Amino acid sequence: METVKTGMKILLTGSTGLVGRELAFAAAKGGSELVCAHHAYPPEAGMPVLLDLGSSDSIRKALAANKPDVVIHAAALTDVEKCESDRELALAVNARATEAIAREAKRAGSHLVYVSTDYVFDGSKGSYREGDEPNPVNFYGRSKLMGEFGVERFADSWCIARTSTPYGLHPRRKSFPVVVAEALSACREMKVVADQRTSPTHTANLSMMILELGARRFQGTLHVSSSTGISRLEFAARVAKELGLDEGLLVPASREQVGWRAIRPKDTSLDVSKAASCLAAKPESLEESLRKFIPSLKGQLARSGARVDK
Ligand SMILES: NC(=O)c1ccc[n+]([C@@H]2O[C@H](COP(=O)([O-])OP(=O)(O)OC[C@H]3O[C@@H](n4cnc5c(N)ncnc54)[C@H](OP(=O)(O)O)[C@@H]3O)[C@@H](O)[C@H]2O)c1
Repeated sequence: METVKTGMKILLTGSTGLVGRELAFAAAKGGSELVCAHHAYPPEAGMPVLLDLGSSDSIRKALAANKPDVVIHAAALTDVEKCESDRELALAVNARATEAIAREAKRAGSHLVYVSTDYVFDGSKGSYREGDEPNPVNFYGRSKLMGEFGVERFADSWCIARTSTPYGLHPRRKSFPVVVAEALSACREMKVVADQRTSPTHTANLSMMILELGARRFQGTLHVSSSTGISRLEFAARVAKELGLDEGLLVPASREQVGWRAIRPKDTSLDVSKAASCLAAKPESLEESLRKFIPSLKGQLARSGARVDK
């Protein structure tokens, strides 16, 4: 794992999630004093502090007691279908809690890095730049955009870091390439959406970029994803090929055929040229990231007894 040496005190929300867990390991390795806010599961690094995003009191206490140099807010309700069906919960966790974190970060003198999403865009054009107009097509995207507004309005020193389709290994969360690998290694067919493009981002690369944004107290909005826009189907095929698994088991489907309740935007790939020019930790291409990720994925599959090429 690469490191960003920070020496700062970080309070990390969502420290047990797909992105947050990787961030926590990277921050601890970089020598940061790390406070890991957690909810349903205990964190695996740093000093644990309980945090319920549904309670402004809990948010206030966590920040006031710790007075971090930087707050990295990576917690969210990320289940797109759940956000559509339980809009009140999505508003509470993704919008109102982010607003409360922004206010408390200002009060504590902390720089705030808010992890946001490509789903703030409507997907009509792809290769979105930071200045493009957000126009979310589902409630998850709307609630995250409201979170962005809260950060801009109430935080003093802030950065909005938008990412896209994070993937990596996690004990509970199966990211997309893991699901593909498990299905194909068990010789199971898998329906994969062919008409949706994003910029799949390795959580290891993402963590380095986010930690740098914190360490440098970067101000403003930045797209921090991989530099490769790709459809889900093409991404799945790349993973299959790297693992020596049968791509023929991938069954192309349209977004409509999958039966999602929440609309998925067509192309929310992100333009990362700004991050590439101003960060030391550069956005990697999909190819670069897969070179690092595939050996760990192979290791996990081998441990579970699945068939993969060595
Ligand atoms: N996943 C994606 O496809 C995607 C795409 C673009 C951007 N993002 C953004 O990237 C960030 C990280 O996403 P992720 O994929 O790592 O999410 P994730 O794996 O779903 O993890 C979510 C985290 O938020 C915490 N959390 C949820 N509800 C909470 C509550 N009420 N109080 C306190 N903590 C709570 C969870 O804690 P417990 O597990 O303990 O409940 C968990 O640590 C989010 O801001 C997300 O919007 C994600």
